[in-house]
Parts: sequence; C-alpha cells; structure tokens
Amino acid sequence: MVFKERQPRDKGMITDDRLLELHLYPGNQCNRDCDFCTVFGSPKGQYSEYTAEHLTAALRTVTLDQQGTIKFYGGEPTLNAENVIWAIAYLRQQGYQGAIVIYSNGIQAGRLLQILASDSLGRTTASLNYSIATGDGAPQMPKSSLAQLEAYELEHAGAIAIGHPDVVDSGRGVEPFTGDATRPQVNSRCPHCYPVLTTAGTFHACPFAIENQAAHFQLGDVGRDAVEIAQNFQAFFHWLDTVHEPYAIAHNLPACTVCWKHLSQLPVPAYRSGAVEHS
Ligand SMILES: C[S@@+](CC[C@H](N)C(=O)[O-])C[C@H]1O[C@@H](n2cnc3c(N)ncnc32)[C@H](O)[C@@H]1O
Ligand code: SF4
Ligand code: SF4
Repeated sequence: MVFKERQPRDKGMITDDRLLELHLYPGNQCNRDCDFCTVFGSPKGQYSEYTAEHLTAALRTVTLDQQGTIKFYGGEPTLNAENVIWAIAYLRQQGYQGAIVIYSNGIQAGRLLQILASDSLGRTTASLNYSIATGDGAPQMPKSSLAQLEAYELEHAGAIAIGHPDVVDSGRGVEPFTGDATRPQVNSRCPHCYPVLTTAGTFHACPFAIENQAAHFQLGDVGRDAVEIAQNFQAFFHWLDTVHEPYAIAHNLPACTVCWKHLSQLPVPAYRSGAVEHS
C-alpha cells in the first residue's frame, strides 16, 4: 500500500483557550452506506452547507497558527466539493494557517484531488477510509480511483494518508462489521478525540458519536464564548477519565458501547451552565 498512517498528535491540547484540533461535520450524506459506519452514512443522509457564521465559530475556537488542524469529515466531503473548496478558501482568507485534513472514501478521486489542490497554502491533505481503500470490510473503491490517488501520493509524498484500521462500537458499530476478525474492536479506554463543530451550529464532544444527541456530548452552540467551549471540552475529558472509563472497566464493556447504550446510567459532565440546552 502506497499510503501511510498519520502519526497521532497530543490529545486534549488547549493553548490560550484554543483547541489544537477541531472536526467539522456537515451531516452524514454519503455515496456509500458502510455496515459499521459511526455516523450512519448513506445516500439518504443529510448535508447542511458550511457558512461564514459556522466557520467564524471554528476560527474562534481552534489554534490559528501552523500548529492547528481542522478536519473535514461527514458523510462524504467530495459529494459537496464546491462548498468544501469555498470553506477552505474562507478559512485561509480569514488568516487560518494550520493544517486541513479531508476524510474521504476516495471514490470520487478527481474531486478529492481538486479539493487538495485548491488550498492556497498547500496544507490540505486527505485521510482515506481504511476499509474502502483496502477492500477489508467494505467493497473496495474502483481501481481507477485507487490508481489516481496512489499516483498523486507518489508525486506528493504525505498528501494522502490511510485511516486507522480500528473499528469502534459506535453508530452502526462493530456487530455488522464483515472485515478481518483480527482488526482491533474492543477497548475500554476512549481514544479521546478532539470535538466537532456541526453545521447545525453545535459543538459536540465526539466525532464518533456525532449522531448521538445525549446531553453528555453537548458542549454548547456557536453563540457560546470560545473559553466556555474549551472549558466544557476539558470537563468532558475529566468525565471520561473519572466516570466513563471506571464504568467501562467495572462492567467489562468497550468504551464506545458505554456511550451508545449506557449513558442513562451516568451523570452528565460538569459543564458550565447552558451547555446542555441542545440535548
Ligand atoms: C465517518 S467517515 C467520514 C469520511 C469518509 N466518508 C470516510 O469514510 O472516510 C470518517 C472515518 O470514520 C471511520 N469509521 C467509520 N465507522 C467506523 C467505526 N465503526 N470504527 C472506526 N472508524 C470508523 C471511517 O473509516 C473513516 O476513516
Ligand atoms: S464510513 Fe465513510 S464511506 Fe462509509 S458510510 Fe460512513 S461516511 Fe460513508
Ligand atoms: S468512548 Fe464515547 S466519547 Fe470516546 S470515542 Fe467512543 S463514543 Fe466517543
């Protein structure tokens, strides 16, 4: 495989009340419907466009210098490539200098490469769905798409990475997963991801649980002060370590199973008031 895994960065980093990384989520519309998908991706899924208001909230929240990273996922970003290209241009016009990552299944390879090439700073890279790139657990992408992406990576080393093979029990989860049984699936420790800003205007604590509307994940809306969003994110991590993980260990459950099926047993993290109004 030409593509390499990206090295994980420090988790939960907040500097001057800004998050090191932020995910952007416009909905779960997709040209696939993987049986394990955390976000219930499907051609019938939703897409709500990136807007200036939404991106302004992102720019208030994430580190703006070269250390920052904004990650576009979904759903499938290439289905709305024009809006993604507009959003990248807007972020750059507003002074964002950090990295941008596009999570994609790569099927629409030409559109994905257009998105990468559109970045005026040349700091937008892609991360491919492991199952669809390899054919392990999902039908592989068309050979012509794979060849196009491999050729690009060979010419632009590091431009296209491959995602992690782990399958977590969130959304459609691990039970319907049909791929290699040795792929890691059970872990009682949450991976401690960076949070998500949805185009619906809310900050959600977890990209894997984005379609889970429980109050435990609601960090606040776009109107909230960025300092409060950062503090609520810290409160969520504290809750993960002091409430969630002990429960997962005591009941011998995978971490994401606790979030998906057992949250009614657990108190909501100690958020600053107003953060849970969108449950
Ligand atoms: C939800 S997808 C959205 C972007 C794009 N459609 C794709 O598949 O890459 C983002 C990432 O989540 C991963 N993913 C989906 N379901 C998962 C699961 N149950 N466990 C772990 N990762 C999962 C995908 O493999 C992909 O790398
Ligand atoms: S994992 Fe990605 S490609 Fe598969 S259904 Fe979900 S969003 Fe679509
Ligand atoms: S354990 Fe919960 S918060 Fe952590 S990744 Fe899984 S669903 Fe998200």
